[in-house]
Amino acid sequence: MAILVCGGAGYIGSHINKELNRQGYETIVFDNLVYGHREAVKWGTFVQGDLKNEEEIDAVFREHKIDAVFHFAAYAYVGESVEEPEKYYYNNVVNTLHLLSVMRRHGCKRIIFSSTCATYGEPERVPITEDMPQHPINPYGATKLMMERIFRDYHTAYGLEFVVLRYFNAAGADPDGEIGESHDPETHIIPLVLDAASGKRPEIRVFGTDYDTPDGSCIRDYIHVTDLASAHLLALHHLEQGGESDFFNLGNEAGTSVLEVINSVKRVTGRDFQVTLADRRPGDPAKLVGSREKAAKRLGWQPVYGDIDTIVRHAWNWHEHATY
Ligand SMILES: NC(=O)c1ccc[n+]([C@@H]2O[C@H](COP(=O)([O-])OP(=O)(O)OC[C@H]3O[C@@H](n4cnc5c(N)ncnc54)[C@H](O)[C@@H]3O)[C@@H](O)[C@H]2O)c1
Repeated sequence: MAILVCGGAGYIGSHINKELNRQGYETIVFDNLVYGHREAVKWGTFVQGDLKNEEEIDAVFREHKIDAVFHFAAYAYVGESVEEPEKYYYNNVVNTLHLLSVMRRHGCKRIIFSSTCATYGEPERVPITEDMPQHPINPYGATKLMMERIFRDYHTAYGLEFVVLRYFNAAGADPDGEIGESHDPETHIIPLVLDAASGKRPEIRVFGTDYDTPDGSCIRDYIHVTDLASAHLLALHHLEQGGESDFFNLGNEAGTSVLEVINSVKRVTGRDFQVTLADRRPGDPAKLVGSREKAAKRLGWQPVYGDIDTIVRHAWNWHEHATY
Protein backbone atom coordinates (compact mmCIF):
# COMPACT_ATOMS: atom_id res chain seq x y z
CA MET A 1 0.00 0.00 0.00
CA ALA A 2 1.32 3.43 -0.93
CA ILE A 3 0.31 7.03 -0.52
CA LEU A 4 0.17 9.25 -3.60
CA VAL A 5 1.47 12.77 -2.91
CA CYS A 6 0.30 15.02 -5.77
CA GLY A 7 2.33 18.22 -5.79
CA GLY A 8 4.84 16.64 -3.42
CA ALA A 9 7.79 18.47 -5.01
CA GLY A 10 6.35 21.77 -3.81
CA TYR A 11 6.83 23.58 -0.54
CA ILE A 12 4.14 22.03 1.68
CA GLY A 13 3.89 18.68 -0.11
CA SER A 14 7.62 17.97 0.28
CA HIS A 15 7.36 18.45 4.06
CA ILE A 16 4.37 16.11 4.29
CA ASN A 17 6.23 13.60 2.10
CA LYS A 18 9.11 13.65 4.58
CA GLU A 19 6.75 13.09 7.53
CA LEU A 20 4.90 10.24 5.78
CA ASN A 21 8.20 8.47 5.17
CA ARG A 22 9.33 9.12 8.73
CA GLN A 23 6.16 7.39 9.92
CA GLY A 24 6.87 4.37 7.70
CA TYR A 25 4.52 5.01 4.76
CA GLU A 26 5.61 4.25 1.20
CA THR A 27 5.05 7.34 -0.96
CA ILE A 28 4.79 8.09 -4.66
CA VAL A 29 5.30 11.78 -5.41
CA PHE A 30 3.55 12.94 -8.60
CA ASP A 31 4.47 16.45 -9.78
CA ASN A 32 4.92 18.20 -13.12
CA LEU A 33 7.70 20.39 -11.64
CA VAL A 34 6.04 23.55 -12.98
CA TYR A 35 6.63 25.06 -9.55
CA GLY A 36 8.13 22.13 -7.67
CA HIS A 37 11.75 21.05 -7.26
CA ARG A 38 13.07 17.57 -8.00
CA GLU A 39 15.63 18.10 -5.18
CA ALA A 40 12.79 18.53 -2.68
CA VAL A 41 11.74 14.91 -3.22
CA LYS A 42 14.30 13.21 -1.00
CA TRP A 43 12.00 10.38 0.11
CA GLY A 44 9.80 7.88 -1.74
CA THR A 45 9.44 7.39 -5.49
CA PHE A 46 9.24 10.36 -7.85
CA VAL A 47 7.03 10.36 -10.95
CA GLN A 48 7.06 13.41 -13.20
CA GLY A 49 3.57 13.86 -14.58
CA ASP A 50 0.74 16.33 -15.03
CA LEU A 51 -2.78 16.00 -13.64
CA LYS A 52 -4.10 17.35 -16.92
CA ASN A 53 -3.20 13.98 -18.47
CA GLU A 54 -5.48 11.38 -16.94
CA GLU A 55 -3.42 8.61 -18.54
CA GLU A 56 -0.31 9.69 -16.60
CA ILE A 57 -2.22 9.48 -13.32
CA ASP A 58 -3.77 6.17 -14.33
CA ALA A 59 -0.32 4.70 -15.00
CA VAL A 60 0.67 5.41 -11.38
CA PHE A 61 -2.45 3.67 -10.09
CA ARG A 62 -1.83 0.68 -12.37
CA GLU A 63 1.73 0.32 -11.12
CA HIS A 64 1.13 0.94 -7.40
CA LYS A 65 -1.67 0.04 -5.03
CA ILE A 66 -2.62 3.51 -3.80
CA ASP A 67 -4.37 3.57 -0.46
CA ALA A 68 -4.86 7.33 -0.12
CA VAL A 69 -4.05 10.55 -1.96
CA PHE A 70 -2.63 13.77 -0.53
CA HIS A 71 -3.45 16.51 -3.00
CA PHE A 72 -1.28 19.65 -2.92
CA ALA A 73 -1.01 20.26 -6.67
CA ALA A 74 -2.61 23.58 -7.57
CA TYR A 75 -1.82 27.11 -8.62
CA ALA A 76 -1.86 29.45 -5.65
CA TYR A 77 -1.09 33.03 -6.74
CA VAL A 78 -4.11 35.10 -5.73
CA GLY A 79 -3.32 38.10 -7.96
CA GLU A 80 -2.66 35.92 -11.01
CA SER A 81 -5.95 34.10 -10.41
CA VAL A 82 -7.77 37.43 -10.85
CA GLU A 83 -5.95 38.11 -14.13
CA GLU A 84 -6.02 34.56 -15.49
CA PRO A 85 -8.98 32.76 -13.93
CA GLU A 86 -9.09 30.13 -16.68
CA LYS A 87 -5.65 28.86 -15.72
CA TYR A 88 -6.86 28.44 -12.13
CA TYR A 89 -10.22 26.81 -12.86
CA TYR A 90 -8.52 24.32 -15.17
CA ASN A 91 -5.66 23.34 -12.94
CA ASN A 92 -7.32 23.52 -9.52
CA VAL A 93 -10.74 22.17 -10.48
CA VAL A 94 -10.72 20.33 -13.82
CA ASN A 95 -7.38 18.62 -13.19
CA THR A 96 -8.52 17.58 -9.71
CA LEU A 97 -11.59 15.99 -11.35
CA HIS A 98 -9.20 13.92 -13.47
CA LEU A 99 -7.51 12.74 -10.30
CA LEU A 100 -10.86 11.86 -8.71
CA SER A 101 -11.94 9.89 -11.82
CA VAL A 102 -8.79 7.81 -11.73
CA MET A 103 -9.20 7.23 -7.99
CA ARG A 104 -12.78 6.00 -8.56
CA ARG A 105 -11.69 3.73 -11.38
CA HIS A 106 -9.11 2.09 -9.12
CA GLY A 107 -11.29 1.94 -6.01
CA CYS A 108 -9.16 4.45 -4.06
CA LYS A 109 -11.50 6.24 -1.67
CA ARG A 110 -9.37 8.50 0.53
CA ILE A 111 -8.15 12.01 -0.13
CA ILE A 112 -6.58 14.71 2.06
CA PHE A 113 -6.97 18.07 0.34
CA SER A 114 -5.18 21.44 0.67
CA SER A 115 -7.80 24.13 0.97
CA THR A 116 -7.26 27.64 2.25
CA CYS A 117 -8.45 30.41 4.53
CA ALA A 118 -9.03 32.32 1.26
CA THR A 119 -12.33 30.40 0.99
CA TYR A 120 -13.67 32.59 3.82
CA GLY A 121 -13.04 35.89 2.03
CA GLU A 122 -13.51 38.83 4.42
CA PRO A 123 -14.50 37.14 7.68
CA GLU A 124 -17.13 38.72 9.92
CA ARG A 125 -15.00 37.97 13.01
CA VAL A 126 -11.82 36.20 14.15
CA PRO A 127 -10.83 33.60 15.08
CA ILE A 128 -12.52 32.04 12.07
CA THR A 129 -14.36 28.82 12.81
CA GLU A 130 -15.11 26.18 10.19
CA ASP A 131 -18.86 26.87 10.22
CA MET A 132 -18.50 30.53 9.26
CA PRO A 133 -19.77 31.62 5.81
CA GLN A 134 -17.38 31.06 2.92
CA HIS A 135 -17.44 33.88 0.37
CA PRO A 136 -14.09 33.90 -1.46
CA ILE A 137 -13.15 37.24 -2.99
CA ASN A 138 -10.83 35.90 -5.72
CA PRO A 139 -10.85 33.02 -8.24
CA TYR A 140 -8.12 31.16 -6.34
CA GLY A 141 -10.29 30.92 -3.22
CA ALA A 142 -13.29 30.06 -5.41
CA THR A 143 -11.48 27.09 -6.99
CA LYS A 144 -10.77 25.65 -3.55
CA LEU A 145 -14.34 26.19 -2.38
CA MET A 146 -15.63 24.47 -5.53
CA MET A 147 -13.48 21.47 -4.74
CA GLU A 148 -14.83 21.41 -1.19
CA ARG A 149 -18.35 21.20 -2.64
CA ILE A 150 -17.31 18.50 -5.11
CA PHE A 151 -15.87 16.39 -2.27
CA ARG A 152 -19.18 16.59 -0.39
CA ASP A 153 -21.09 15.45 -3.49
CA TYR A 154 -18.62 12.63 -4.29
CA HIS A 155 -18.84 11.52 -0.67
CA THR A 156 -22.63 11.25 -0.91
CA ALA A 157 -22.71 9.64 -4.34
CA TYR A 158 -19.54 7.55 -4.49
CA GLY A 159 -18.45 7.11 -0.89
CA LEU A 160 -15.31 9.25 -1.26
CA GLU A 161 -13.72 9.78 2.17
CA PHE A 162 -12.07 13.17 2.52
CA VAL A 163 -10.40 15.51 4.93
CA VAL A 164 -10.23 19.10 3.75
CA LEU A 165 -7.57 21.16 5.52
CA ARG A 166 -7.94 24.93 5.25
CA TYR A 167 -4.46 26.30 5.83
CA PHE A 168 -3.79 29.78 7.07
CA ASN A 169 -0.30 31.13 6.20
CA ALA A 170 2.12 28.23 5.80
CA ALA A 171 5.56 29.32 6.97
CA GLY A 172 8.93 28.11 8.24
CA ALA A 173 10.99 25.19 7.01
CA ASP A 174 12.01 21.69 8.03
CA PRO A 175 13.72 22.00 11.46
CA ASP A 176 16.47 19.62 10.18
CA GLY A 177 17.17 22.02 7.30
CA GLU A 178 16.76 19.32 4.63
CA ILE A 179 13.95 21.06 2.71
CA GLY A 180 12.31 24.48 2.75
CA GLU A 181 10.33 27.11 0.92
CA SER A 182 11.38 28.13 -2.59
CA HIS A 183 8.66 29.74 -4.71
CA ASP A 184 9.37 31.56 -7.96
CA PRO A 185 7.96 34.17 -7.95
CA GLU A 186 7.89 34.47 -4.16
CA THR A 187 4.91 36.31 -2.69
CA HIS A 188 5.01 35.10 0.92
CA ILE A 189 6.05 37.64 3.47
CA ILE A 190 8.61 35.70 5.53
CA PRO A 191 10.90 34.71 2.61
CA LEU A 192 10.52 38.24 1.19
CA VAL A 193 11.61 39.82 4.48
CA LEU A 194 14.47 37.31 4.72
CA ASP A 195 15.55 38.44 1.23
CA ALA A 196 15.71 42.00 2.57
CA ALA A 197 17.74 40.78 5.57
CA SER A 198 20.23 38.96 3.34
CA GLY A 199 20.53 41.91 0.92
CA LYS A 200 18.89 40.13 -2.04
CA ARG A 201 16.15 42.75 -1.98
CA PRO A 202 16.77 46.43 -1.30
CA GLU A 203 13.77 46.97 0.99
CA ILE A 204 10.59 45.46 2.31
CA ARG A 205 7.32 47.27 1.69
CA VAL A 206 4.50 47.22 4.22
CA PHE A 207 1.14 47.59 2.46
CA GLY A 208 -1.16 49.51 4.79
CA THR A 209 -0.40 50.87 8.24
CA ASP A 210 -3.86 52.25 8.99
CA TYR A 211 -5.79 49.02 9.54
CA ASP A 212 -7.83 48.54 12.69
CA THR A 213 -5.06 46.52 14.38
CA PRO A 214 -2.77 47.47 17.30
CA ASP A 215 0.15 48.59 15.08
CA GLY A 216 -1.95 49.40 11.98
CA SER A 217 -0.49 46.62 9.76
CA CYS A 218 -2.38 43.47 8.65
CA ILE A 219 -2.57 40.49 10.97
CA ARG A 220 -2.17 36.93 9.68
CA ASP A 221 -1.95 33.49 11.26
CA TYR A 222 1.42 31.84 10.51
CA ILE A 223 1.52 28.08 10.82
CA HIS A 224 4.78 26.14 10.72
CA VAL A 225 4.95 23.76 7.77
CA THR A 226 6.05 20.91 10.08
CA ASP A 227 2.93 21.50 12.19
CA LEU A 228 0.93 21.29 8.95
CA ALA A 229 2.68 17.98 8.30
CA SER A 230 1.65 16.53 11.66
CA ALA A 231 -1.97 17.59 11.01
CA HIS A 232 -1.96 15.77 7.65
CA LEU A 233 -0.77 12.56 9.27
CA LEU A 234 -3.48 12.87 11.93
CA ALA A 235 -6.04 13.44 9.16
CA LEU A 236 -4.92 10.23 7.46
CA HIS A 237 -5.11 8.30 10.74
CA HIS A 238 -8.58 9.78 11.26
CA LEU A 239 -9.79 8.29 7.96
CA GLU A 240 -7.93 5.01 8.54
CA GLN A 241 -9.78 4.66 11.83
CA GLY A 242 -13.16 5.19 10.16
CA GLY A 243 -13.51 8.88 11.08
CA GLU A 244 -16.05 11.10 9.34
CA SER A 245 -15.13 13.09 6.25
CA ASP A 246 -14.69 16.63 7.51
CA PHE A 247 -13.25 20.16 7.14
CA PHE A 248 -10.61 21.66 9.45
CA ASN A 249 -8.81 24.97 9.80
CA LEU A 250 -5.06 24.71 10.31
CA GLY A 251 -3.75 27.83 12.00
CA ASN A 252 -2.07 28.78 15.26
CA GLU A 253 -4.95 30.92 16.45
CA ALA A 254 -2.26 33.54 17.07
CA GLY A 255 -2.30 36.64 14.94
CA THR A 256 1.03 38.22 13.99
CA SER A 257 1.15 41.60 12.27
CA VAL A 258 3.36 42.39 9.29
CA LEU A 259 5.43 44.75 11.46
CA GLU A 260 5.83 42.01 14.09
CA VAL A 261 7.09 39.61 11.40
CA ILE A 262 9.64 42.23 10.30
CA ASN A 263 10.79 42.76 13.90
CA SER A 264 11.08 39.00 14.38
CA VAL A 265 13.30 38.76 11.26
CA LYS A 266 15.50 41.59 12.58
CA ARG A 267 15.79 39.83 15.96
CA VAL A 268 16.49 36.36 14.57
CA THR A 269 18.94 37.39 11.84
CA GLY A 270 20.57 40.25 13.75
CA ARG A 271 20.39 42.32 10.53
CA ASP A 272 18.81 45.66 9.80
CA PHE A 273 17.24 46.64 6.48
CA GLN A 274 15.05 49.27 4.84
CA VAL A 275 11.32 49.07 5.67
CA THR A 276 9.09 51.24 3.46
CA LEU A 277 5.53 52.02 4.51
CA ALA A 278 3.12 51.97 1.56
CA ASP A 279 -0.62 52.27 0.90
CA ARG A 280 -3.04 49.41 1.39
CA ARG A 281 -3.47 46.90 -1.44
CA PRO A 282 -7.05 46.20 -2.52
CA GLY A 283 -8.54 42.97 -1.16
CA ASP A 284 -6.33 42.52 1.92
CA PRO A 285 -8.53 41.86 4.98
CA ALA A 286 -7.23 43.46 8.21
CA LYS A 287 -7.15 40.24 10.23
CA LEU A 288 -7.17 36.56 9.29
CA VAL A 289 -6.79 34.25 12.25
CA GLY A 290 -8.12 30.70 12.37
CA SER A 291 -9.66 28.84 15.25
CA ARG A 292 -7.86 25.54 15.80
CA GLU A 293 -10.31 24.17 18.31
CA LYS A 294 -11.98 21.71 15.93
CA ALA A 295 -8.67 20.20 14.71
CA ALA A 296 -7.51 19.95 18.33
CA LYS A 297 -10.70 18.23 19.45
CA ARG A 298 -11.37 15.87 16.54
CA LEU A 299 -7.84 15.16 15.25
CA GLY A 300 -5.88 15.69 18.47
CA TRP A 301 -3.70 18.25 16.66
CA GLN A 302 -1.43 20.54 18.66
CA PRO A 303 1.07 22.78 16.82
CA VAL A 304 4.48 22.74 18.50
CA TYR A 305 6.31 25.48 16.57
CA GLY A 306 3.80 28.27 17.21
CA ASP A 307 6.25 30.97 18.23
CA ILE A 308 6.98 33.40 15.35
CA ASP A 309 10.71 33.57 16.18
CA THR A 310 10.97 29.77 15.86
CA ILE A 311 9.16 29.85 12.51
CA VAL A 312 11.47 32.64 11.27
CA ARG A 313 14.60 30.89 12.64
CA HIS A 314 13.85 27.67 10.71
CA ALA A 315 13.02 29.68 7.58
CA TRP A 316 16.28 31.67 7.94
CA ASN A 317 18.33 28.51 8.44
CA TRP A 318 16.92 27.16 5.15
CA HIS A 319 17.25 30.51 3.39
CA GLU A 320 20.95 30.67 4.25
CA HIS A 321 21.70 27.08 3.19
CA ALA A 322 19.05 26.49 0.49
CA THR A 323 19.96 23.88 -2.10
CA TYR A 324 17.14 24.75 -4.52
N1 LIG B 1 1.58 28.12 0.96
C1 LIG B 1 0.52 28.51 1.66
O1 LIG B 1 0.60 29.36 2.57
C2 LIG B 1 -0.83 27.91 1.37
C3 LIG B 1 -1.94 28.37 2.09
C4 LIG B 1 -3.19 27.79 1.83
C5 LIG B 1 -3.31 26.77 0.90
N2 LIG B 1 -2.23 26.35 0.20
C6 LIG B 1 -2.39 25.26 -0.77
O2 LIG B 1 -1.46 24.24 -0.46
C7 LIG B 1 -1.01 23.58 -1.65
C8 LIG B 1 0.50 23.57 -1.69
O3 LIG B 1 0.99 24.91 -1.63
P1 LIG B 1 2.56 25.21 -1.80
O4 LIG B 1 2.82 26.52 -1.19
O5 LIG B 1 3.32 24.00 -1.37
O6 LIG B 1 2.61 25.36 -3.39
P2 LIG B 1 3.76 24.89 -4.41
O7 LIG B 1 3.54 25.62 -5.68
O8 LIG B 1 5.09 24.96 -3.77
O9 LIG B 1 3.39 23.34 -4.63
C9 LIG B 1 2.42 22.91 -5.56
C10 LIG B 1 3.05 21.80 -6.38
O10 LIG B 1 2.08 21.26 -7.29
C11 LIG B 1 2.70 21.07 -8.55
N3 LIG B 1 1.64 21.11 -9.57
C12 LIG B 1 0.83 22.16 -9.86
N4 LIG B 1 -0.03 21.82 -10.84
C13 LIG B 1 0.23 20.53 -11.16
C14 LIG B 1 -0.32 19.62 -12.10
N5 LIG B 1 -1.29 19.98 -12.94
N6 LIG B 1 0.19 18.36 -12.16
C15 LIG B 1 1.20 17.99 -11.34
N7 LIG B 1 1.76 18.82 -10.43
C16 LIG B 1 1.28 20.07 -10.35
C17 LIG B 1 3.73 22.17 -8.67
O11 LIG B 1 4.77 21.87 -9.57
C18 LIG B 1 4.24 22.28 -7.22
O12 LIG B 1 5.32 21.42 -6.98
C19 LIG B 1 -1.68 24.32 -2.80
O13 LIG B 1 -2.82 23.57 -3.18
C20 LIG B 1 -2.09 25.65 -2.21
O14 LIG B 1 -3.24 26.16 -2.84
C21 LIG B 1 -0.99 26.90 0.41
